[in-house]
Amino acid sequence: MLSEKAIDDNDFNPDYYLAPMEGITGYIYRNALRDHFGQGIIKYYTPFLVVHEKRAMSSKEINDILPEHNEGLYLVPQILADDADGFLRIEKMLKEFGYKEVNLNLGCPSKTVASKGRGSGFLGRIEALDEFLYRIYENRVTDISIKTRIGVSLPDELFELLEIFNKYPVKELIIHPRVRYEYYKGQAHRDIFFRAFPKSCNPVCYNGDVLSKEDIFELGAGSGNKLKAVMIGRGMLRDPSLIRSLSGGSSYSTDELRSFLARLLRDYSEVLSGDRPVLQKMKELWSYMQYSFPDKDKQIKSLLKCRSISEYRLLEMSVL
Ligand SMILES: Cc1cc2nc3c(=O)[nH]c(=O)nc-3n(C[C@H](O)[C@H](O)[C@H](O)COP(=O)(O)O)c2cc1C
Repeated sequence: MLSEKAIDDNDFNPDYYLAPMEGITGYIYRNALRDHFGQGIIKYYTPFLVVHEKRAMSSKEINDILPEHNEGLYLVPQILADDADGFLRIEKMLKEFGYKEVNLNLGCPSKTVASKGRGSGFLGRIEALDEFLYRIYENRVTDISIKTRIGVSLPDELFELLEIFNKYPVKELIIHPRVRYEYYKGQAHRDIFFRAFPKSCNPVCYNGDVLSKEDIFELGAGSGNKLKAVMIGRGMLRDPSLIRSLSGGSSYSTDELRSFLARLLRDYSEVLSGDRPVLQKMKELWSYMQYSFPDKDKQIKSLLKCRSISEYRLLEMSVL
């Protein structure tokens, strides 16, 4: 068992990134997070933008990447594609909006995406993936980073994948050490990550199940303090001050959390019509945040079922 002092004295100081989470980390959430808990968050990523055949992006996607909706944050738009021309079309458009880096999604495990050979489904088509990467890196107009799982079925697939990624100037390789079929279940394979990490010629960022200082200590120890960056997703939904506290700042106070949630409620209400879609956003967040309030089980259950914003406000007060 590690002492708290050993964990606090840890001199491993990676950069921290907010993971993309479709349906949650859109521009409304990112702006609120930056204003209330932005300390230590070096990069933000958009949820994936899909390549459409007939148009470049949907209005929802354009709203999410508009520079005026993302002032003061380093934002990396993420693209989901398995067709190089489509990828390059969106990448060019993103450059016109001023972006210097885009991210390729090779991680999405959902059936609708992966069964079409995109996201983590692309990892099972090694030759096609290699050809795709050749074309996008050859013709790129921005830097391209990659966010990947470690394979489709077996964790060892990562070693073969690394041989492919090493052929290209990947701005940063973000590795989530689960295979496609694990979805988000079980433990991330940190052992495989630590073995594979030194074999990457490109800078590597770790992503998966980071919830505490202990996790960061383990990543520092496992990588010989050489890892440069860590991306956090669900841990930030549970505790929006996690990156701030990992970067030497404080954990949230109840007042801070209240005002963060009030800001989200206000901003979602401005852009969404009716209580329902707003409540859906707040409830989705609470479905992760509930783990930070194990003794408020009953109240949170009611909150997750509530049907109006006025009811929601009362229930939120009963939790916080
Ligand atoms: C609700 C939800 C939506 C997600 N959407 C995306 C996405 O759009 N693009 C992506 O690359 N990963 C997406 N992910 C995966 C996360 O970015 C991250 O890789 C994963 O949750 C593991 O990291 P964590 O344990 O820190 O959450 C999503 C995850 C969740 C839970």
